[in-house]
Amino acid sequence: MTAAVRKAARTLQRDYGELANLQVSQKAPGDYVTIADQKVDKILREELAKVRPGYAFLTEETGVVAGTDPDHRFIIDPIDGTMNFMHAVPFFAITVALERKGELVAALTYNPITDEMYSAEKGGGAFLNNKRIRVAQRRDIHDTLVSYEVPHRGGKDLPLSRAEISVLQARVVGIRGTGSAALSLAYVAAGRFDAMVCRNIKPWDMAAGILLVREAGGFVADPDGEKNPMETGNILATNADLLPHFKDALSKAREQ
Ligand code: IPD
Repeated sequence: MTAAVRKAARTLQRDYGELANLQVSQKAPGDYVTIADQKVDKILREELAKVRPGYAFLTEETGVVAGTDPDHRFIIDPIDGTMNFMHAVPFFAITVALERKGELVAALTYNPITDEMYSAEKGGGAFLNNKRIRVAQRRDIHDTLVSYEVPHRGGKDLPLSRAEISVLQARVVGIRGTGSAALSLAYVAAGRFDAMVCRNIKPWDMAAGILLVREAGGFVADPDGEKNPMETGNILATNADLLPHFKDALSKAREQ
């Protein structure tokens, strides 16, 4: 997986800052697909199929690609944070997860501009450029820095309700809208953000990040209950001590 991601990353390193030719289409107003998204998607599928023939794919740009192996599936966002990439804001990532029998077993999230490779294998811990990482150990919600996502223009579904944002704002130190859910989750794994909370994102935005956070000793939950964030699209990632406090804050917001 690492070789495929590094090969695909070279095209982003080349195209980064070359804004003129990048926009190819809009999936929805403000939701862009660039040539770079498509190139990275193709390289990843080709390279991964060479080393793992028969595995299925779920990617942001291609959707479902059936495989002959019923047990394995790669989940890919070729550029998570396309808008940041288009504006030469160096906060975006290639993000790839591997599922075995529906369980996340390997993850890579790579920022090709800062050259930060976040990796995890189930049961093996989480790493940033091969150094072990762990989630932050803060226990008091009042000390925390939290990431969430702001929708693109035209996005109908708010990532967080206004009530949720205002309750969080009253409790935490800072909230950051980053533009890359995958990289925000990697930052939670690395102990940079204390938590990440977001609604209405896709499996490819979160798959690798979920394993990274878990393997860094953190917890990932649906903010509203016991469901699987990969199915609901709603995610809260943080450490064990903070989890109930964030859940409480979000449930207070729902009562408003
Ligand atoms: C986007 C990012 C962003 C999230 C959007 C996604 P993309 O992915 O994950 O953080 O708020 O909902 O669409 O489109 O840049 O791959």
